[in-house]
Amino acid sequence: MSAGIAVIGSNMVDLISYITRMPAEGETIEAPDFSMGCGGKGANQAVAAARLGSQILMVSRVGDDMFAANTLRNFEENGIDTTHVLSTPGTSGVAPIFVDPQSANSIIIVKGANNALSPADVEEVADEVAQCKLIVLQLEIPLETVSAAIDLGHRVGVPVLLNPAPATTELDFDQVTKCEYFVPNETELATLTGMPTESLDEVRAAARALVDKGCANVIVTLGKRGVFWLSAEGELTLDQYPATAVDTTGAGDAFIGCFSHCVVQGDSVPEALKTANAYAANSVTKRGTQKSYATAEEFAAWVGKGAPSQA
Ligand code: RIB
Repeated sequence: MSAGIAVIGSNMVDLISYITRMPAEGETIEAPDFSMGCGGKGANQAVAAARLGSQILMVSRVGDDMFAANTLRNFEENGIDTTHVLSTPGTSGVAPIFVDPQSANSIIIVKGANNALSPADVEEVADEVAQCKLIVLQLEIPLETVSAAIDLGHRVGVPVLLNPAPATTELDFDQVTKCEYFVPNETELATLTGMPTESLDEVRAAARALVDKGCANVIVTLGKRGVFWLSAEGELTLDQYPATAVDTTGAGDAFIGCFSHCVVQGDSVPEALKTANAYAANSVTKRGTQKSYATAEEFAAWVGKGAPSQA
């Protein structure tokens, strides 16, 4: 097993309907297909990194409903210890998701038990987090808990990756600048900076504003347009890795899980970005969220079989 990644974040049950179009107000339409699976941005990123071989310290909360046991079993099946996946009275997090024929998705999240993950839960695992090489955070848990985790990372000298999803303008930029890696998509970047992110030049300007405020690495996932990285040392733009998409749900989480795995393995940021770009592309060729995440062997076989390499 490789060095540890602490994922302090959400888990959800994804209820995915494959639709032909969104219903109009008051309309009932039939969706041709449905799939249920494990999701949640925290759990997704943890599972992607685990499938690639990273050892994960998962800190999360499930409810006391019919979904909880399945989520715990899923973590265990992916080699993720559930000691710090705590139980909370009430519903687990759930996410109704709609995937259209163009493979694009719309997601509603009901945070449920994720709302109960507290700063005290983070403090409880401080000694174990201090042994990790990276802390990975998203925004599907309370902001005060995210903030406590950033402070813990700072205190014990473990770098932090923050994926500000779903975006909120309440995010404290003094906390953001303590993170080594800040990884929004272009929509989140626009919400957080109040700047446009339509063109690559606009994305660069918005990322520049964050680097100027003190962010070390701003990595912007751009969907079909690839990925953009800016740091004080330079920048890199990668085109989307070629693949035929059937379901893009969780592709951003696949990217972050793989990127995290690669940087704790010692890859440079550009190397890790290239691998993560390909890993996310592989995930969109399959339906489902975590169901679409390849193991290290499956990913190597896919890349080796003629998925074109990227310079
Ligand atoms: O990023 C995709 C994820 O967002 C889904 O798994 C869903 O659960 C929501 O958290």
